[in-house]
Amino acid sequence: MIIALDGPAASGKGTLARRLAAHFGLPHLDTGLLYRATARTLMDDDARLDDVAKAVSAARGLALTDFDEDRLRGREMGEAASVVAAIPEVRAALIDMQRAFARRPQGAVLDGRDIGTVIAPDATVKIFVTASAEARAQRRALELRGRGEIVDYHAILDDIRKRDARDRERSEAPLKPALDAEILDTTDMNVEAALVAALAIVEAALTRQDHAAKSPRAC
Ligand code: DC
Repeated sequence: MIIALDGPAASGKGTLARRLAAHFGLPHLDTGLLYRATARTLMDDDARLDDVAKAVSAARGLALTDFDEDRLRGREMGEAASVVAAIPEVRAALIDMQRAFARRPQGAVLDGRDIGTVIAPDATVKIFVTASAEARAQRRALELRGRGEIVDYHAILDDIRKRDARDRERSEAPLKPALDAEILDTTDMNVEAALVAALAIVEAALTRQDHAAKSPRAC
């Protein structure tokens, strides 16, 4: 089973992906980390974020296991990741790694922006997790405060709106729900309620798959 979760920044898709992976005993890949790690390499090398050759080389040099999550999850890295993620060559350099992860024999959970549309269009279930920009900014502010960062809610809201626009308007693999994705709006949900809703979506997809496998094929 492949579970694809997409959605804008701080929509809760990462938490849901981790919880679903634990529930079903599946490996999980947070694909945002790939773009964050690519941006971090460029910044560590004092390279520009729009240096295509260096960005592609940084993306190609990534291994799925070498993420320093603490540093990658900071506020400036999300913004930088969104900039390098708009470079088509960077996206192309990261596709095979993500598709190989999705095709693991035991199945997988992946979260990002283009999992249901580009990385795993044949996923068993696709969930597009969303929430209002205000709710997402509140959650991100809480998360960053919890990590000891000094945060300004309005600056975070501004970041989120800018990032949404960049992720939605880029030419390659823009953020959008796949046609067959279920939309899960978590604006008024806590994590537990969102998990219950996501589990119901997955269970319904598994039931549909089961019925399709048992019903006689039309010629
Ligand atoms: O999910 P995140 O906030 O960690 O992602 C950081 C940025 O990376 C996001 O603004 C856009 C980009 N990204 C992407 O373009 N495609 C993905 N599958 C995952 C992330």
